[in-house]
Amino acid sequence: MTRIFPLPETAHHIVRQHLLQGGSAVDATVGNGHDTTFLAQLVGGRGTVFGFDVQLQAIHITAQLLQQRDLLHRVTLIHASHSLMDEHIPQAFHGQIQVIMFNLGYLPGGNKSFITRADSTLTAIEIACRLLTAQGIVTVLAYPGHVGGDEETLRLSRWCQQLDPRHFQVDTVLSYYLKPHAPRLFVIRKMN
Ligand SMILES: C[S@@+](CC[C@H](N)C(=O)[O-])C[C@H]1O[C@@H](n2cnc3c(N)ncnc32)[C@H](O)[C@@H]1O
Repeated sequence: MTRIFPLPETAHHIVRQHLLQGGSAVDATVGNGHDTTFLAQLVGGRGTVFGFDVQLQAIHITAQLLQQRDLLHRVTLIHASHSLMDEHIPQAFHGQIQVIMFNLGYLPGGNKSFITRADSTLTAIEIACRLLTAQGIVTVLAYPGHVGGDEETLRLSRWCQQLDPRHFQVDTVLSYYLKPHAPRLFVIRKMN
């Protein structure tokens, strides 16, 4: 039987295999807080999650969601660009993070001027790769279907191709619906 999962669910499936109880993770695009909540559940009571968003509304919505689920104490929410994540995440976590998730684009139903942009996205992903522990992963869900999203996805794809395969392995998961503008999931694994 062939089972087809939407890419956000595929990302969660992959993340579950890499994030251990007591571990640390980053949600680089907090949005409505679904991925942050998911990460906070996985790390358990002794784990830590850092969440970034440039949109204050996203930080508030996510804080509320985490509070309702009694998970807020596991998460540090940061109202800043993910391109500054190394400045906000304490030094003790550098090189220790198991999972960093990006869900690009704009907040569904929110202000579309707060959209991720290729330059800052690539800066952030480069920093994210440095913050990972060995065998840690960065997942990036990219949407080529909106203005700017096509350029962002193309540049991301090229950036992944220039990574040294001795240090990083990249898998690209395509949407089942093979349309040119269908979303795609990049999974970057740090080998050592
Ligand atoms: C597709 S939404 C994320 C959805 C979210 N992961 C969830 O589970 O609901 C993208 C988010 O990225 C945020 N964003 C845009 N540029 C950003 C940046 N430079 N740094 C951090 N967040 C950014 C937007 O404000 C928006 O909330």
